[in-house]
Formats: sequence, C-alpha cells, structure tokens
Amino acid sequence: MNANFSTTQSGAPVVDDSNSSAIGRDGAIPLTDHYLIEKLAQFNRERIPERVVHAKGGGAFGVFETTEDVSMYTKAALFQTGAVTETLLRFSSVAGEQGSPDTWRDPRGFALKFYTSEGNYDLVGNNTPVFFIRDGIKFPDFIHSQKRLPGTNLRDADMQWDFWTLSPESAHQVTWLMGDRGLPASWRTMNGYGSHTYMWINEAGEKFWVKYHFKSNQGHETLTVDEAESLAGSDADHHLRDLSENIAKGNHPSWDLKVQVMPYDDAKDYRFNPFDLTKVWPHADYPLIPVGKLTLNRNPENYFAQIEQATFAPSNFVPGIAASPDRMLQARIFSYADAHRYRVGTNHAQLPVNMPKSEVRNYSKDGAGRYHFNSASTPVYAPNSVGGPAADPALYGPHGGWENDGELVRAAHTLHAEDDDFGQAGTLYREVFDDAARARFLETITGAVGGVVSSEIRERAIQYWTNVDADLGAKLRANLGSGETPASESEAALY
Ligand code: HEM
Repeated sequence: MNANFSTTQSGAPVVDDSNSSAIGRDGAIPLTDHYLIEKLAQFNRERIPERVVHAKGGGAFGVFETTEDVSMYTKAALFQTGAVTETLLRFSSVAGEQGSPDTWRDPRGFALKFYTSEGNYDLVGNNTPVFFIRDGIKFPDFIHSQKRLPGTNLRDADMQWDFWTLSPESAHQVTWLMGDRGLPASWRTMNGYGSHTYMWINEAGEKFWVKYHFKSNQGHETLTVDEAESLAGSDADHHLRDLSENIAKGNHPSWDLKVQVMPYDDAKDYRFNPFDLTKVWPHADYPLIPVGKLTLNRNPENYFAQIEQATFAPSNFVPGIAASPDRMLQARIFSYADAHRYRVGTNHAQLPVNMPKSEVRNYSKDGAGRYHFNSASTPVYAPNSVGGPAADPALYGPHGGWENDGELVRAAHTLHAEDDDFGQAGTLYREVFDDAARARFLETITGAVGGVVSSEIRERAIQYWTNVDADLGAKLRANLGSGETPASESEAALY
C-alpha cells in the first residue's frame, strides 16, 4: 500500500489521478466526478489580484538587531539596545506587472515588516529618499500615467512626460530615476529609505522627527543601460534569482539602519518643509545616526503564501513611532489596509505571514476566511463589565501628534525659505553626480524625452530640465535637435 496516497480537499483517498470518470471510454463525464470538478475549480481560483502597484517582487525573512542606544529618541521596544526582531523584507519594482523584467528603469520597493513584541511595525519604503508627488490625491493619476494607455494597452512616453512636466514637484525624483540609481544591479546592492518623515517619541514623551536610511553592506552597484536591457530579455527574474540564490548559499545580505533626527521644534522654520516628500534633509543639517543592522537569512518556503499574500501597511505603527504631517504618508495610512482587504481579504492579518508574534485581543470578529476567534466566554462588545480586553493608555505611553492650524483648507503644504521644485534636483545633478554620471544622465533623458511624440510635451520636458539646470537643458535641446516636428506627431492624440 502507498502510504503517501493522494486525497481530495476533504481528505478522502483519490481513486485515480489521471483519468476522469466517463460513461464508456468515449462518453460524457458525469457530475459525480467531484474530484475532477474540485481540481478544476481550485485551479480557477489560484490567483488573487496583483498589487495595483509594485506587483513584481520577491522577498526574504531575516532579523533586525538594535546595536546602538537611541532610547533618547524613541521608546519603541524594537529600537532598544540589544533587541532582536524577526523581519520580512519585500523588494519590488513599481509600474511593471507581475512577470515584468526586474531590470526595467523604475524605483524599487523596500517594504519591511518587523514582528515586534508590541505588534507588527511596517516600514513601507523605496530605494529612493524622495517621491514624485507631495499630495496623495495625485497618486492614482501619477500611476495611470506610468502604466498603460487605455486603448492599445501600451506604455507611453507622452503620458509619462505630460504628467511629470505638469507636476514640477516630480523633478527631484525623476532626476534620481534617470540617473544611475534607476538601474540597481541587484536588490542586495541598493539602499532602502523610509522616505517619509516619521515621529519618534521617547519614554518621557519628547517628540522628534526622523527619516530612515538602510545602507547596503554589499556596496552600491548599478547596471548600465545596455546591461539592464539585455538582462530584461535574457533573465526577467534577475533580481529575484540573485536574492534567492545568495541566501540559499548562506551569503546573507545586510543593511545598516541609520536615522536622521530633527528636534520637534526645528520643523517650524527649517529651510525646507520637512514634511514634503519631494525633499531630502541634507546630511550636513541632520547627520546619520546609527541604530542597528538588518540581515536577510531565510528564503520563503512558498512564494504565494509568504510573499504574494504578505500585506505591508504604513498604518502598522507601534508605541514610540507615529505619523507626521506628510500628506503622502497620511493618504497611505488609509490606502494600504484598504488594498489588503480587497486584494487578500478581510482577515488577511490572520495569515501566518501577516500575523503578529504578539497576541491579538480585540472585538473584531467574523468575515470571510476567519480562522481565529475569541473564547465563548469573551464578550463581543466593549465596554463590558466581565473583564474583556480594554485599552490601557498608560501601557501605550505618550502619543504622537502635533499642533494643527485648525482651519479646513485645500492648499499646498506651507512653503519654507528654500522650498522650490527644482532646487534639490539641480543639486543632485551638479553636486552628487560626477562628470561621467552627468554624461550618462544626459544620454538617458535624451533617449527618454526622445520617445515623446508631441512637440508641445517635448518642449515642456526641455524646459523642465532647463529649470533643473540651464546647461543640461541646452544640451538636451541640442541632442534632440528640437524644433523639428516628430514624424508621427498625429499619434500623440492616442489618449
Ligand atoms: C504598494 C498605494 C506612495 C512604496 C502599494 C499598494 C498601494 C499603494 C495600494 C499596493 C498594496 C497591496 O496591495 O499590498 C500608494 C499610495 C501612495 C503611495 C496611495 C501615495 C499616497 C508610496 C511611497 C512609497 C511606496 C511614497 C515609498 C516611499 C510602496 C511599496 C509597495 C507599495 C514598497 C509594495 C509593498 C509590498 O511589497 O507589498 N502602494 N503608495 N508607495 N507602495 Fe505605495
């Protein structure tokens, strides 16, 4: 007898794995072949919707160890010296669908889940410290412009550059994207950033503004345009393969976490609005302070269960860490948990990969796929007089929060002394890139803007780069031989 006999989903032995039951060898298949029906029905339901952005990715488990004393800034248990916390890190590209090549030019996601003793803390960042927009109300439009045309389903340079040039706050991030860092050699050899400004709160209730930087200990490596294009054709899963093979070999990648800390009151008159996600804080103003080390040491055993169904939410905070006035962050605090309820299901937090290591106690119940439940003696409402779970403000400690103006307005963030859309982009181009990087950058934007068909959008793109740097704009204009109308301009009316 075969001890490893196959069974139906309900556990009964299967009679035959390869032949459907049929009325005679060439006859019809009866509905009584419930195993055939079960197999086909299950197969039809194997997919869940892919993430609306960041659909292509991969990840691994690891540990975060706090090696330095930052208790003067935060009371969060995971950031107390010596704390070791299990983690899951998922890397991704942004605009491409599942199955798209890992080496297309794009920002990369760096989504981190810390399974802390105080509940899950998710830091859902990117490999860039800034972003294309500064108000979440523009996010769906931005993503639409980077994805596909409604009619042809093709990606389209005109709509990308139309959106970017009409949204000048994008200049800093687009400069990053079109620079060398837009083509990381691997997920292991890129940095990660929390990007937003967050709040840290210490035991005494003092508040600080922080930015997170994960510096790769594998060094920083990028691909040339030719390498990236060739890999996109020969190995679409290049980054996924690199991560998984290195971890399997015991070559565990690691990142040092450093933070920039801004005293609470500095935010009011710092030269840049510190809650504007299109800006960095120069390190000369707020130097990097070491915190600890993240190491990835375990590949997932099952991609679907542990990576595809993983849900990372900027709303998952723990005591000692809170939100900030950054509008993008606030939009994200709504958006992710909502996406998870749709993409994975109401009870996604009960799946093993998403479940906190600390106990969950509350009055939420039922819903599709509910697995955990309270004991029959636990009340189903609060307040109650029978000893059900109750919030303990003393345990949570001092809250995050900040003073608000009070008036309800629809207006952009406050402008600080040096705030403008192109300044930091120009600094990145002139002072961070070297001569060779600037030459590659010009070549890249020449190719990218060269793909734009509409002469009006092309002209706006040249002006956009002229605003970043006048000399760059002049060189781009010369490269594009502007003034000539592209042959197929009439096609610009595609969208
Ligand atoms: C994924 C929305 C900005 C990083 C997602 C998802 C949504 C979303 C709906 C899919 C979530 C899922 O199905 O699990 C938004 C909105 C934004 C925004 C509304 C602006 C208001 C950002 C920014 C960053 C970022 C600024 C980085 C700093 C990521 C990452 C993922 C992601 C890394 C993939 C998470 C994973 O690996 O599961 N975003 N996003 N997003 N987003 Fe955003």
